[in-house]
Amino acid sequence: MSPLSAARAALRVYAVGAALIVAQLVRRCVRGFVEPVFSPQPNRVAIVTGGTDGIGYSTAKHLAKLGIHVIIAGNNDSKAQDVVRRIKEDTLNDQVEFLYCDLASMRSIREFVQTFKMKKLPLHVLVNNAGVMMVPQRTTEDGFEEHFGVNYLGHFLLTNLLLDTLQESGAPGRSARVVTVSSATHYVGELNLDDLQSSTSYSAHAAYAQSKLALVLFTYHLQALLSARGVPVTASVADPGVVDTDLYRHVFWGTRLVKKLLGWWVFKTPDEGAWTSVYAAVTPALEGLGGRYLYNERETRSLEATYDPELQRQLWARSCQLTGITDVTRETFGE
Ligand SMILES: NC(=O)c1ccc[n+]([C@@H]2O[C@H](COP(=O)([O-])OP(=O)(O)OC[C@H]3O[C@@H](n4cnc5c(N)ncnc54)[C@H](OP(=O)(O)O)[C@@H]3O)[C@@H](O)[C@H]2O)c1
Ligand SMILES: *[C@@H]1O[C@H](CO)[C@@H](O)[C@H](O)[C@H]1NC(C)=O
Repeated sequence: MSPLSAARAALRVYAVGAALIVAQLVRRCVRGFVEPVFSPQPNRVAIVTGGTDGIGYSTAKHLAKLGIHVIIAGNNDSKAQDVVRRIKEDTLNDQVEFLYCDLASMRSIREFVQTFKMKKLPLHVLVNNAGVMMVPQRTTEDGFEEHFGVNYLGHFLLTNLLLDTLQESGAPGRSARVVTVSSATHYVGELNLDDLQSSTSYSAHAAYAQSKLALVLFTYHLQALLSARGVPVTASVADPGVVDTDLYRHVFWGTRLVKKLLGWWVFKTPDEGAWTSVYAAVTPALEGLGGRYLYNERETRSLEATYDPELQRQLWARSCQLTGITDVTRETFGE
């Protein structure tokens, strides 16, 4: 990517961010963000990746409040112990625990799944939430560009490895759900199948947007697979909006300054940002319905290209190669 297209990618991301902030500001003045209310969900089990901070923390807390057994998957043990204690105190739910899972390592993801499966628990909700944004060019343990590796490929592998448990845990009329957190930056993302790792040249903005676009394509293909198999599992995307979290620690200092000055007002709080994920995870309105892109607790359209089944299929196949797993969609859809 040339310096010019890198600058263009950055501008496009900032334009989307600015448009969203204006929309959020209007909404806050007109009717505000209203916490959705759900009935208790006893005997359900959820995994939330990146549940130690920001939107993931709020998501884990809200799910725990509904009586769900919540497993936080994250890569910081000491931080997690404190988080688990706080959520237990806040929600009076004792079934909150932490399991180590570094999404930047396929070995760690596999170990996490093994440990989880040894618990012989069902799995009703998987929230693919963890993410990094605008990090400098660096690679994961397996040599993947970090946005692509952590945000997308890590969750691709995790979901595939947990699919059997999700399938066994869902029941007709009470589906298991995969909720994947994307972002409005996917609207300006471009999927470069020939250079998914941004190796020829690097733009942090383009790499972040691409990872979020890939998550939408992945979710729709997953939903197509689940529908074709006729299993009681659904998959949807949650777009949290612009949320006041530490995700912004790597962005340009001017943006951080704006966030510091105005963030409390124009950004959503982590709780407000989490409501879309919680909604996607438990609302009865979406029972049996997947393949949705949800924003402010409503369905909306994602980028046109995300509905292209051929692009979805190509990305899925490539992701299987990169993670070394069997392409389970091939037996369903053929070549
Ligand atoms: N904030 C926004 O405006 C916004 C907008 C659109 C979409 N999103 C999406 O929302 C999701 C949550 O972001 P956030 O705003 O809540 O950011 P955040 O506060 O930085 O939280 C990100 C979480 O992901 C975890 N994480 C990072 N790398 C990981 C790894 N290698 N393995 C396991 N966990 C890892 C972090 O763990 P540590 O606590 O240990 O760092 C943290 O818990 C992301 O997918 C992001 O793309 C956010
Ligand atoms: C883990 O979290 C603690 C507390 O937030 C922080 O001080 C520490 O730097 C984190 N460790 C790593 C490896 O990120």
